[in-house]
Amino acid sequence: MQTEPVRVRQAAAEDLVRIAALEALCFSDPWSERALGSHRESAGAILLLTEDFAGALTGRILAPEMEIERVAVHPARRRRGYGDALLRAALDAGRRAGVLRVFLEVRAGNLPALALYRKNGFRLLSRRRDYYRDPREDALVLVCDLPDPSAGRTGSAGPAEAGAPEARAAAQDP
Ligand SMILES: CC(C)(COP(=O)(O)OP(=O)(O)OC[C@H]1O[C@@H](n2cnc3c(N)ncnc32)[C@H](O)[C@@H]1OP(=O)(O)O)[C@@H](O)C(=O)NCCC(=O)NCCS
Repeated sequence: MQTEPVRVRQAAAEDLVRIAALEALCFSDPWSERALGSHRESAGAILLLTEDFAGALTGRILAPEMEIERVAVHPARRRRGYGDALLRAALDAGRRAGVLRVFLEVRAGNLPALALYRKNGFRLLSRRRDYYRDPREDALVLVCDLPDPSAGRTGSAGPAEAGAPEARAAAQDP
C-alpha cells in the first residue's frame, strides 16, 4: 500500500521515452515517444508524470474546456492512488487556467477507469456506439463541471501555475 504522497510534475522532453514505455504497458494502442512529443508541443497540451515514472496523464486545456486523453499507471503500481493524484493535478491545472468543463472518452467496459473518473466528479454525457477498435467497443463520453472561480470563490488551493502544472497530491484519500 502506498504510504508516501504521489508526487506529480510536468513531463519534460527527456521523460517522453519513459512515458512511451508506460503507454506500451497500459494500452492496446500505445502512443509512441514521437506521438507524445507532438502532443507535448501542441496547443494547450498537458503532460503530467509521477516522479517515480509509474504514472502519466495527457490532456489538453483549451479554456473554458479541457480534455483528458490518457491516464496510465504501471500495472505494478495500481490501486495506490496514482490515477487519483494525476487526475486531481490535471483538474487543478484546468481550474487555474479557467476551465469550466472537462471531457473524456473511455471504453464502456473499462471499469477501473470509470470508477476513477466517477470518484473525481465525472458523469455520463453520451455513448458513442462502436467507437473503439481492437477490440470493438462503445465509448462513454464523461463530463465534469468545475466551479467558476469568477462566481465568488476566493483564491485557488492549487500549487502550480496555469499551463505549467507541478503539483503534489496526497495519495491517500479519506
Ligand atoms: C485506470 C487507471 C489509470 C487507475 O489508476 P490507479 O492508480 O490504479 O487508480 P487509483 O489507485 O488512484 O484509484 C482511484 C480510484 O479509482 C477507482 N479504481 C481504480 N482501479 C480500480 C479497480 N481495479 N476496480 C475498481 N475501482 C478502481 C477506485 O474508485 C479508486 O479509489 P479507491 O482506491 O479509494 O477505491 C489504471 O487502472 C490504468 O492505468 N489502467 C490502464 C490504462 C487505462 O485504462 N487508462 C484509463 C483510460 S485512458
